[in-house]
Amino acid sequence: EDYALGGHPDFMRKEIAEQGEAVRRALRGRLDDRFATAHLGGLNMDARELRGISKVVFLGCGSAYYAGQLGAQVVEELARIPATAEPASEFRYRNPVVDPDALYVAISQSGETLDTLAAVQELQRKGGRVIGAVNVVGSAIARQCGAGVFLHAGPEISVASTKALTNMSVSFTMLALLLGRVRDLSAADGQRVVEGLRALPDAIDKVLTDEPAIAEIAQRYAEARSMFFIGRVRAWPVAREGAQKLKEVSYIHAEAYQASELKHGPLALIDPEMPSVVIVPDDELLAKNINTIEQIKARGGPVIAVTNADLPANVADDVIRIPRVATELDAMLLTIPLQLLAYHTALALGRDIDKPRNLAKSVTVE
Ligand code: AGP
Repeated sequence: EDYALGGHPDFMRKEIAEQGEAVRRALRGRLDDRFATAHLGGLNMDARELRGISKVVFLGCGSAYYAGQLGAQVVEELARIPATAEPASEFRYRNPVVDPDALYVAISQSGETLDTLAAVQELQRKGGRVIGAVNVVGSAIARQCGAGVFLHAGPEISVASTKALTNMSVSFTMLALLLGRVRDLSAADGQRVVEGLRALPDAIDKVLTDEPAIAEIAQRYAEARSMFFIGRVRAWPVAREGAQKLKEVSYIHAEAYQASELKHGPLALIDPEMPSVVIVPDDELLAKNINTIEQIKARGGPVIAVTNADLPANVADDVIRIPRVATELDAMLLTIPLQLLAYHTALALGRDIDKPRNLAKSVTVE
């Protein structure tokens, strides 16, 4: 085990550190500068079939579902195809309407999650076209789908998923690019995304150099009983994943909320004992997000902002800054500091980081 850890104290830390390399692997041979697109040979679909897709539905459990939400956002943005995500664990119980022209994407690091496998089987029974987005080659979901995108994240041991999730987001961005370029995404915009993807591994490595500052913030908030993770639109899946990671490894209660929904109820919970992590991408919603921070601060709530924008001085108590890559890729990069925040909170609390209580790496039972 010591050898496998390669000098890291545990697998979660190792897998967080490996993300730049994991993304490089996922991109290898798949980006095309000439046509400003991506190649995903495993889909087994030609341009005509890709153009015929009426909507994209992402299905996964837990964090894989949140990665699917991020995927749906980027597919709608780049390809302008309606896209949604839903928990695979609910799918077979609600008698879903299966659209034969839709593309269903079953997402799973392990490829063995029973609920996701059952969703695939239900879809296939009803004539749905389903592809896999799977990390483990030869796994049950990969075999059942027969087509899809392998994540190439390498083995992931820690129960809390990090690099596999990043590679899910990278893969969905390539899928969105591919679907966009056979529709009306311009070559110039396609190329901007290609270049953004190519710059992503170095940007991840850059975020990781900020670890000491993030660790210091985590230590200061480690005694919190509960935390909010707030984001809107692109940052909403990021907030959900941030809350999930904190819960899993630190056992601190965390709730993700859409920024605009706060005033419809949860604002009542804000007080000096309730820290909020606010995710602020540098996009067209920046002013709104700054306003959200001010609303929380006005009620005495401590705010940790995670951003790639230039925020007004002292607007938040703590600011974690990340580099800019391309607007559509912001969400992916904003997730990385939240992994470190959860990790260092768990470390400060002395948790069993790689094997949190009550959880298994892959859930192969109902
Ligand atoms: C992630 O940190 C969790 N451990 C969990 O939500 C996980 O993403 C989920 O169980 C799905 O697993 P899979 O990707 O192997 O299907």
